[in-house]
Amino acid sequence: MLSERARNCRIYARCTIQTAVSKTVLVTGAAGFIGSHTAQALLARGDTVVGLDNLNDYYDPARKQANLRELSHSLGAAHFSFVAGDIRDRELVGRLFEQHDFGVVVHLAAMAGVRASIENPYLYYDVNLNGTHTLLEAAREAHTPNFVLASTSSAYGNTSVVPFVETDAADRPLAPCSASKRAAEMLAFTLSSSLRAAGPGAALFYRLWASGSPGHDGLQGARQHVLRERGSAV
Ligand SMILES: NC(=O)c1ccc[n+]([C@@H]2O[C@H](COP(=O)([O-])OP(=O)(O)OC[C@H]3O[C@@H](n4cnc5c(N)ncnc54)[C@H](O)[C@@H]3O)[C@@H](O)[C@H]2O)c1
Repeated sequence: MLSERARNCRIYARCTIQTAVSKTVLVTGAAGFIGSHTAQALLARGDTVVGLDNLNDYYDPARKQANLRELSHSLGAAHFSFVAGDIRDRELVGRLFEQHDFGVVVHLAAMAGVRASIENPYLYYDVNLNGTHTLLEAAREAHTPNFVLASTSSAYGNTSVVPFVETDAADRPLAPCSASKRAAEMLAFTLSSSLRAAGPGAALFYRLWASGSPGHDGLQGARQHVLRERGSAV
């Protein structure tokens, strides 16, 4: 007898496989907690996935290798390829966009952790802002129609609006990690405008919190927030 959760998963998998049009998707942070599950779901629905991750040691890289091993055995694994590299490497990112016609970029690679970002702010701005910028520019140049960006609920920072609402300006982040993610949202907003000008396009921002990843502070169950959505489903 299947549990309700398992039944829902099966229904979800069936729906997505039936309704999705296959695409090639670039998943950054593919060896991470959310990235590896995202890649699995995309492969299961019939997409081709290129994963990019620098396998850094913010938490034990063995966990990331284990995620990749699991991916290599999952449904649709023949359509998965992995590139070990850095989102800040413009040459590498440019090459990937030359080699593949991405229908979607799912950008999950980031330096996470509010407390750690206070100790090492330069790294956080470099990866979360400059790395995101590199990807956004490559996507713009390649006319990639959809870009999904994972942001963070810590962007709400010192807001007086509780519970958080999407219409909050979110202009009081309290740590470099949060500020860099909020700034990345703005870069993505700008890209979204040029995507729309060029035809059907979408930039989705998700402000996530507490999913249970080993790399995040305050792990308390799963929530996610669709902040903005434009254009067609990705
Ligand atoms: N899990 C959560 O609770 C949560 C909460 C808020 C926001 N988020 C956001 O969701 C996204 C995914 O989070 P996660 O929990 O899977 O984190 P994670 O740390 O497990 O995964 C991130 C991956 O990005 C990779 N990465 C980091 N810097 C990179 C770089 N310069 N180049 C290439 N790869 C790099 C890491 O090696 C890692 O595998 C992140 O953007 C994170 O900020 C997650």
